[in-house]
Amino acid sequence: LINKIPVISIVYDRGKYHEVLRGLAKPGDTVIEIGPHMGASTRVLSDAKRVIAVDKAAQAEAASKDFPGNAVFVKGDARFFSTIGKVLKLTKKCDLLAIDMGGGRFPDTVFKVWAVWSGVFKPRDSVIRNRGLGEFLRRAQIDDDSLPNKFEDSGWLSQCGRKTPSQLKEGMEELKNWMRKR
Ligand SMILES: C[S@@+](CC[C@H](N)C(=O)[O-])C[C@H]1O[C@@H](n2cnc3c(N)ncnc32)[C@H](O)[C@@H]1O
Repeated sequence: LINKIPVISIVYDRGKYHEVLRGLAKPGDTVIEIGPHMGASTRVLSDAKRVIAVDKAAQAEAASKDFPGNAVFVKGDARFFSTIGKVLKLTKKCDLLAIDMGGGRFPDTVFKVWAVWSGVFKPRDSVIRNRGLGEFLRRAQIDDDSLPNKFEDSGWLSQCGRKTPSQLKEGMEELKNWMRKR
């Protein structure tokens, strides 16, 4: 993967996820990693200066004592604003946002988590491991020339990302209600 311009990379295969992460993480980078689980993907990020690894599972928390020295573990659910709040206390800077909430996970949840976290942290690059998002992109076509086809600014939706934490909070509330209804 040649990282000349910032990217939003979508993968499904776990090995590919690790390969893309390894290629994108630069020395000096701060990485926010959602879903480290046992830390296999965290270990791949050894070139980064700092990794904030966020997971809601007790198993991940227990495994985090063996995570590499550049990693800090944050226990929390990535769907909730309170978890973003915990991470904001540790860093405002994020060069790479890596999301693996389970490759087969519903793409709507994963996309929303990516949209919200990238809107707050404005990463240079993003990597998302999710099959549904990959299939959607493979199947979809854009039939509207008013939409630009080149975005050279960054690995987040700078044109339509959320701008302020208060709007973000509303967004997360909306998601919470939606989760409850299911
Ligand atoms: C497939 S595992 C990650 C594997 C790991 N990235 C690797 O490459 O070895 C998915 C992880 O996402 C975590 N996860 C799923 N939903 C989450 C959420 N809403 N908030 C935080 N972590 C979540 C799970 O607890 C699990 O540890």
